[in-house]
Amino acid sequence: MTKTLIVSYTPRINSNTQKLVQDFMTKSQGKTEVSYLNLVTHTPDLLLKDNLNIMLKRNFTDIALSEEEKRLLAKNDEMLSQLKASDFIVLAYPMNNFTVPAPVKAWIDAVLQPNQTFKLTEKGYEGLCHGKKAAVLMTTGGDYDLEIAKPMNHATGLITTVFGIIGIPSQHISAYGLNVYPNRINEILEVTKEKITDLVKLWYN
Ligand SMILES: Cc1cc2nc3c(=O)[nH]c(=O)nc-3n(C[C@H](O)[C@H](O)[C@H](O)COP(=O)(O)O)c2cc1C
Repeated sequence: MTKTLIVSYTPRINSNTQKLVQDFMTKSQGKTEVSYLNLVTHTPDLLLKDNLNIMLKRNFTDIALSEEEKRLLAKNDEMLSQLKASDFIVLAYPMNNFTVPAPVKAWIDAVLQPNQTFKLTEKGYEGLCHGKKAAVLMTTGGDYDLEIAKPMNHATGLITTVFGIIGIPSQHISAYGLNVYPNRINEILEVTKEKITDLVKLWYN
């Protein structure tokens, strides 16, 4: 059976993004083995002085790490291993300030590691994650289908690049306008759920 990793950041009580995650889980039940990374309760460590320098030492030198140094990298490395062990990845979050929420960015910093998920060569980036697929469930308050707002959506392009760099094609299922069209929230979510139905068929049938 295939393995699917759901990575989500949905801290708000009654989160609409979480409703989409739940819909995906219900529809994919029994079709794939699901593991779940909740970035609200299991937030990646930010790369600060200690762990950033230990990571550079590990990734770019032959110097062996001490047990204590390995321990400082373990939480983020576990997230990298989870990604590498999955066939399908669902990343779910609401837009925050025109891009991905900080814990999602911290997850990106955990899983984009040279010689683990990508290589940098003279020809550019080479993804090392082969045969995987990703889907992104994003909800927003504004409507980024409007021409005037499209350039302000810095989330979709960023995540497309991030998955692309490591060799994973991504598709984006976005529920736009949940704050600007309060009377249409249910309608927007239902249309989005139909896209999730199509995704589940595409991936698991
Ligand atoms: C801190 C914060 C920043 C936000 N920034 C944006 C934004 O830049 N653009 C936007 O369209 N919506 C923004 N929103 C609105 C949410 O993206 C939107 O309401 C989303 O659907 C909430 O999802 P949830 O129901 O899963 O919490 C922001 C919300 C919060 C809490």
